[in-house]
Amino acid sequence: MKAFPIILGIESSCDDTAAAVIQNRKILSNVIANQKIHQSYGGVVPELASRAHQQNIVPVVNEAIKQAGINSGQLSAVAFTRGPGLMGSLLVGSSFAKSLSMALNIPLIEVNHMQGHILAHFIEDANESSPNFPLLCLTVSGGHTQIVKIDDYFEMEVLGETIDDAAGEAFDKAGKILGLDYPAGPIIDKLAKEGNPDKFKFSKPKVDGLNFSFSGLKTAILYFIQKEVKENPNFIPENLNDLCASIQKTIVDILMEKLISASEQTGITQVAIAGGVSANSEIRNRLKEMETERNWEVFIPKFEYTTDNAAMIAMAGQLKFEQQEFADLSSKSVAKYKI
Ligand code: KG4
Ligand code: ZN
Repeated sequence: MKAFPIILGIESSCDDTAAAVIQNRKILSNVIANQKIHQSYGGVVPELASRAHQQNIVPVVNEAIKQAGINSGQLSAVAFTRGPGLMGSLLVGSSFAKSLSMALNIPLIEVNHMQGHILAHFIEDANESSPNFPLLCLTVSGGHTQIVKIDDYFEMEVLGETIDDAAGEAFDKAGKILGLDYPAGPIIDKLAKEGNPDKFKFSKPKVDGLNFSFSGLKTAILYFIQKEVKENPNFIPENLNDLCASIQKTIVDILMEKLISASEQTGITQVAIAGGVSANSEIRNRLKEMETERNWEVFIPKFEYTTDNAAMIAMAGQLKFEQQEFADLSSKSVAKYKI
């Protein structure tokens, strides 16, 4: 029997250097080097990110190959993130992938990072069972907010996306106003558990169709806090849990409202979520509620496959390998890349 192809995936679009090995939808290794360096800046610094990728890429790929229990000669192809992302970061991954494909004389596969987030759902152990088509996916992270309709692995249509900040950015920027560390999303989630989500009301943006906007919310929070702190300098510490719960509820309300509209408009009830914000307990609870309220089938993948990772790039790479869809050495990284 012919052995299944073994694909190496490389992800370097933002601040994580990652490599993973997949065979027949099974992840053999999934290695990631987070760049802690950005924490003190309150966000990703592109120049520092590309330098850190250069330091990390060789050890991360070596580790992925080692943990997979293979040698590089057994690889059938190398897949990498072509975009979207930070140009300096993308270039490190793509140049490395090209060199490796030349050295090993194996095909090169380019992957759209946003498609990768979605295709992660098809990794063998991502969910209890894999979704079918058609499927809706809400991809929400520090860099993305999109609702995508998926008719087949590579037949995707963006139904709506943010016109300014991403949902994770909204969490992070709100957290910054409250004096929380970066990334603030997980901290807000934790503090919100002890808070009253209805204590403070923030107006929601009016955006046409299935698009999102979060920059107005950030400004509304900033002005509100500035006003309150002027009257009571202890306003933030005295109300921190309620503030977090109210901000979280507002962001999740905005996301859920559009996701429900997308499901109503398309008639699709298989709904997936991807991206770092999918860790949020409020969004998870609300999605679960939809299973009974609206008969949705909800897919929330394992956390390691939903934040930026290379397993999703390897998975997309495997699917492209099956279709024999290869790139050549003239492949160019792209900061903006439509699904
Ligand atoms: O996917 P990811 O690790 O990286 C990219 O941004 O691509 O997502 C990181 C984002 C950050 O904005 C972080 O604050 C947010 O996901 N995040 C959360 C939670 N965990 C991570 N936001 C809300 N609640 C969480 N539990
Ligand atoms: Zn991402």
